[in-house]
Amino acid sequence: MCGIVGYVGPRTAAPILLDGLQRLEYRGYDSAGIAILTPERKIEIKKTQGRLSVLLDALQGSTPPGYLGLGHTRWATHGEPNEINAHPHADCDGRLVVVHNGIIENYGSLREGLRAKGHHFTSETDTEVLAHLIEEEYRGHQGPDEFVTAVRRALKQARGAYALAAFCAEEPELLVGARLFSPMVVGLGSGENYLASDIPALLPYTRQALIVEDGEIVALDREGASIWNLEGVAISREPFHIGWDLEAAEKGGYPHFMLKEIYEEPQVIANALRGRLDGERVLLPEVDKLDLAKIQKAYIVACGTSHYAGLVGKRLIEEFARLPAESIIASEFRYSNPVLDQNTLVILISQSGETADTLAAFRLAKESGAPTLVVANVLGSSITRGADAVLYLQAGPEICVVATKTYLAMLAVLTLLALDLGQRRGLLAHSQIAPILQELRDLSAKVDRVLDGAEAIAEIARRYADRKNFFFIGRGWDYPSALEGALKLKEISYLHAEGYPAGELKHGPIALLDPEVPVMALATPGPLYEKIISNIQEVKARRAKVLAVAAEGDKEITHHADEVLWIPRTLEPLSPILSAVPLQLFAYYVARERGCDIDKPRNLAKSVTVE
Ligand code: BG6
Repeated sequence: MCGIVGYVGPRTAAPILLDGLQRLEYRGYDSAGIAILTPERKIEIKKTQGRLSVLLDALQGSTPPGYLGLGHTRWATHGEPNEINAHPHADCDGRLVVVHNGIIENYGSLREGLRAKGHHFTSETDTEVLAHLIEEEYRGHQGPDEFVTAVRRALKQARGAYALAAFCAEEPELLVGARLFSPMVVGLGSGENYLASDIPALLPYTRQALIVEDGEIVALDREGASIWNLEGVAISREPFHIGWDLEAAEKGGYPHFMLKEIYEEPQVIANALRGRLDGERVLLPEVDKLDLAKIQKAYIVACGTSHYAGLVGKRLIEEFARLPAESIIASEFRYSNPVLDQNTLVILISQSGETADTLAAFRLAKESGAPTLVVANVLGSSITRGADAVLYLQAGPEICVVATKTYLAMLAVLTLLALDLGQRRGLLAHSQIAPILQELRDLSAKVDRVLDGAEAIAEIARRYADRKNFFFIGRGWDYPSALEGALKLKEISYLHAEGYPAGELKHGPIALLDPEVPVMALATPGPLYEKIISNIQEVKARRAKVLAVAAEGDKEITHHADEVLWIPRTLEPLSPILSAVPLQLFAYYVARERGCDIDKPRNLAKSVTVE
């Protein structure tokens, strides 16, 4: 998620913008820039790749004068992280600038239309298209209202998600913002006003703020702010007082980044699917680069939570594409002398794109001439360079060391990949794929439903936070969920938790069960449901407590489990996406009850870049 700051007022804008960007640094970014309207009505843009310090050095002592400006820290989604692609972006004549946070799905077709009208582009970004679209709509017009109208008309042509800020040289006291599915907030000063992606950037200047809602556009001048919807209907909105301190503001008011990122999951699933579903087809042009006719097998290689996503990916690819697939931990794969050739697709999953073992596996695959497909979150990360195909999670930066929202994004992207491979291999008729795509679209709302039940999960967690050992068990699609649920609990609460195939309990581990060893059983609907119920009965016979993840409406489970963590019903291959959420919340609340350092657990790193 990019960071946006804007200022209009009597003070020199540059220092205020740079300070605001520094307060948004925690969001993660790969480049930064500012644009200032000088007193001579020239727009000066300065942008650099890398940390803010690089921009500050480039501006060394020569920050452009001017009282209207925009700043931006970029989290790349389209176009490599570099100076050209950094924001702000301008129109053809440099008479207006735009910064943007989000994804414009139809930027390609919009760009072709604008090129046909003579516009020339300098970057690969979807954002620059917005600058030229506004230019096109503003052409022949002038005046502050006309500029606001031009932005509004431009946005009505764009599809996707945006938080956008813009100004033009003709209007030295006008800042325009707009929002759809990406955050934006207005800061109200006296004789000056601010725009920002997030509240921390406003805190030194004002505690009076105005929320811009999805589908709204806001115009700021020194006196105040006016809001309209995209149809141009004016909206009145009361300001609110910001009560948060800086730390709370960075977490969006949540006590930990982990909880904030769990609550982002409905939006993260929508973003993972964004631009990739077209009616009854999956659209993954990135896969075009693979010669599927040659591919007879897939290895899925990753570490940690990403490996558990890979286990689900294996099931998905075999289920929908009937392609033999094997999911292997990267540190094992790289030393196992695997059989690799041009007929073996190696799929590598890495949120950071920098994990040493996964990178080593990537290099091994490349050296062997095997085609490589990468699933990653950080655009331009090491593992994305040189891969034959890259599928981005589009999940925004994950600040908490342990993976939550990116795990759900991985599962969503792997589902799309499996469906796409099935389509391309001629195995999935539209009538088969349509219900799955519809269920994928419904998942965001279903995750919301699980989050609505968080307090009940917190209550259960409080009852078990004093235990020392847990088992997590599952069968079939639920087995990887059991492994991931156990890992989450281990990582942040430091309790011992073991994920195990439910069918294997009787071959040893059941000897460990007693009333002090709770068992979390994944019991989602499916052909193996009766078998997991039998496993639960085996566990109960040893007087161990059973907590179960089960589907709403399941009456049977309440006769066997001591506690139930409910999830909405969904298609079996999509159930790992929903099952993950109560298990993340359970781990979070146990760790919180135990006073653990949830966002930065001891001994762990967000990305292990050494072997
Ligand atoms: C670990 C992280 O260090 O690396 C896990 O703590 C993560 O959350 C694992 O799943 C793999 O990281 P990546 O970036 O390769 O997905």
